[in-house]
Amino acid sequence: MTSEATEDAVVDLAALGDGFTRDPYSVYAGLRERGPVHRVRMPEGADAWLVVGYEAGRAALADPRLSKEWRNADPDLGVKAVASGTTMLSSDAPAHTRLRKLVTREFTPRRVELLAPRIQEMTDALLDAMLEGPDRRADLVEALSFPLPITVIGELLGVPALDQDSFREWSNTSISAPVLADRMAAAKAMSEYLTALLESKRERPGDDLMSALITTADEDGDRLSGPELLGMAWLLLVAGHETTVNLISNGVLALLGNPEQLADLRADFDGLIDNAVEEMLRYDGPVETPTYRFTTEPVDIAGTVVPGGGQLVLVAMADANRDPAKYAEPSRFDIRRDARGHVAFGHGIHYCLGAPLARLEARIAIRSLLERCPDLALDIHPAALTWRSGMLVRGPESLPVSW
Ligand code: HEM
Repeated sequence: MTSEATEDAVVDLAALGDGFTRDPYSVYAGLRERGPVHRVRMPEGADAWLVVGYEAGRAALADPRLSKEWRNADPDLGVKAVASGTTMLSSDAPAHTRLRKLVTREFTPRRVELLAPRIQEMTDALLDAMLEGPDRRADLVEALSFPLPITVIGELLGVPALDQDSFREWSNTSISAPVLADRMAAAKAMSEYLTALLESKRERPGDDLMSALITTADEDGDRLSGPELLGMAWLLLVAGHETTVNLISNGVLALLGNPEQLADLRADFDGLIDNAVEEMLRYDGPVETPTYRFTTEPVDIAGTVVPGGGQLVLVAMADANRDPAKYAEPSRFDIRRDARGHVAFGHGIHYCLGAPLARLEARIAIRSLLERCPDLALDIHPAALTWRSGMLVRGPESLPVSW
């Protein structure tokens, strides 16, 4: 449902084609100059209310009147949930509170810290393989950015022999394919795979997160149901690798495009790496717009009243992080700037559960890569890179490098 007054003003992002996928920032910035809320037609097909800018975007991310539950979506929108089971990311409080509590009991900072030596080992092994390859060139996505996070999340969950190729195909298709039927089919194949995995964990539990989630219970004896376990495994696996891959790729790309920043980082790794990763998240974060939110009542967003009844609200986090009202010269990559407050991991009750793990992986991967390849360079003109389609994740399909 759209009001007639706004129908005329729909900005057709789909019509912008490849240019928008390549550089959504300038499109969002152009919209932001006209105001914080816009009617848009997404490349995915449906119409949405797009929120740009830092203040309005951050507020919308935490607004409880914007529901993450698909049952609140206007059925006429033409969008459909593509997920397996029940997840916290698509639940509102109190269901969200309960699911998040049960997983945070097990997915603790200590479990993440304990992974550091393994992440280093995995990174070293991937870099060994990359450096052995012919003619000192490789696709960094294939060699490091993709395999590292998926191996880490597989190991965390206790699936060391994760069928990475099939999993990658289903996961990529389920979140980025242009055709809904393809997204649904991939999600179904993934559900079947995860259901079998959970079954084998039940029979042979280990010392891993998935086994812990199967058996965990809170003080009142509350446990995760079958569909909730499936949803949790799906969410952790998908959220755990579709994003971090792009933090590593986009981060390396930003460094290679800014040689003086790269030189500074090489000169003082210990002093600068933490802040550099925050700046990578701000400057070109892996999530362009987070998963959908639906209005449960008319909501005034920075002066625009978005009708109730399940209208789709999309927050351009990528633009929030480049709002000059928050960050001076926002399009400049500066590993020394104060990037705090960025919303690359979201904001509010759905704030990313895996942020500490993602930061740890990026620090180890980027540091090790730069140390092992002192003369690392981009092996393609940046304008020739192809980017992941859709508005959800942002990252290059491949990143040719040489050393
Ligand atoms: C750089 C990497 C990552 C980025 C940029 C990222 C980004 C995000 C964002 C923006 C959200 C909130 C979405 C919303 O409000 O609609 C989110 C939620 C979530 N992320 Fe991440 N994420 C990353 C890595 C990870 C990893 C490694 C894991 C797991 C191991 C993970 C697990 C989750 C989960 C479970 C949620 C849902 C939290 C909730 O609904 O309460 N993420 N992430």
